Amino acid sequence: GHYDNGGYEHYLLKEISEQPDTVARTLRGRLDDRFHIAHLGGLNMDPRESRSFRRVKIIGCGSAYYSGQIGAQLIEELARIPADAEPASEFRYRSPVVEADTLYIAISQSGETYDTLAAVQELKRKGGRVLGIVNTVGSAIARECDGGVYLHAGPEVSVASTKAFTSTAVAFALIALHLGRVRDLSPADGRRICDGLRKLPEQIKEILTQEEHIRTLAMKYADAPGMMFVGRVRGYPVAREGAQKLKEISYVHAEAYPASELKHGPLALISPELPTVAIVPDDELLDKNLTTLGEIRAREGRILMVGHRTADAADDCIVVPKNETELDPILLTIPLQIFAYHAAVALGRDVDRPRNLAKSVTVE
Ligand code: AGP
Repeated sequence: GHYDNGGYEHYLLKEISEQPDTVARTLRGRLDDRFHIAHLGGLNMDPRESRSFRRVKIIGCGSAYYSGQIGAQLIEELARIPADAEPASEFRYRSPVVEADTLYIAISQSGETYDTLAAVQELKRKGGRVLGIVNTVGSAIARECDGGVYLHAGPEVSVASTKAFTSTAVAFALIALHLGRVRDLSPADGRRICDGLRKLPEQIKEILTQEEHIRTLAMKYADAPGMMFVGRVRGYPVAREGAQKLKEISYVHAEAYPASELKHGPLALISPELPTVAIVPDDELLDKNLTTLGEIRAREGRILMVGHRTADAADDCIVVPKNETELDPILLTIPLQIFAYHAAVALGRDVDRPRNLAKSVTVE
């Protein structure tokens, strides 16, 4: 379709800049101030059903899968239900064991990704209960699911997903709040998460004001032959998404690793030619992450740190506003979108239509 680019040079920048609004739209009408719960009528579940699941399995492709990793962590942290994410493409080929007490969640911006659709159909065939987190209303995946959450992020035109990614993470926070509050999550913790979610749009605006700083950094690092992205636990899916954005639109090789795994192999790659983007939130893993930065620096690796403070071990820093620890990944992702965008522009790439890729992959 033809959508107005709103005066932006690229849809990608328009969609990145829309995020204060798109996140607000995903939240709208869904937070309850009296009971500190999430209203998600589309789940089609009474509280007893919501309590009945013993496991959550999340599937999606590419960035949808990485947002699912954020979602799995939110569900484990807030609802204390074992949860994990897997690429839908892999899931459908490995004859998965489908369990009655597992809640399956499929993620898709377009709602038309064939691998994800086929995985949902396989789950349904085996009697699995599947919810969808989908942006496109009435799409094939939305129709196939038993219920779910629409993102309401508006059409995403640029091939690289940005606003759908952040809205998916927000939708997962709502689902995690819902599943948590019918279990052991206290009203006080429920309120903490509701308040944190409400702060997101303003905090995203604050990050967007740093575009010029991030553009300068993108130009500084864009000539590197490759980049390493690292993060621990909540920072790891953020690192994966940051690497995905960079390779997709700038064609710079990027690899994401859990920071804890560096010394088990990829540390051998670290040199002045391979800069590292380190996701370092102020959470219980801060000291471990700062130690990792020291190890990278000792190998003369250049470091761009994205977190809630500056650190001497890093060459450059992007500081984002702090939210509740569980919600930090949402904000940490945004500078990486801006970084990839400006790296792609600096390298003269076709930002909205990167080579070899389609917006939705409707074939096998
Ligand atoms: C994201 O930047 C990519 N273009 C790609 O990984 C995408 O997220 C994936 O193909 C899934 O698309 P969907 O959300 O429309 O199903």
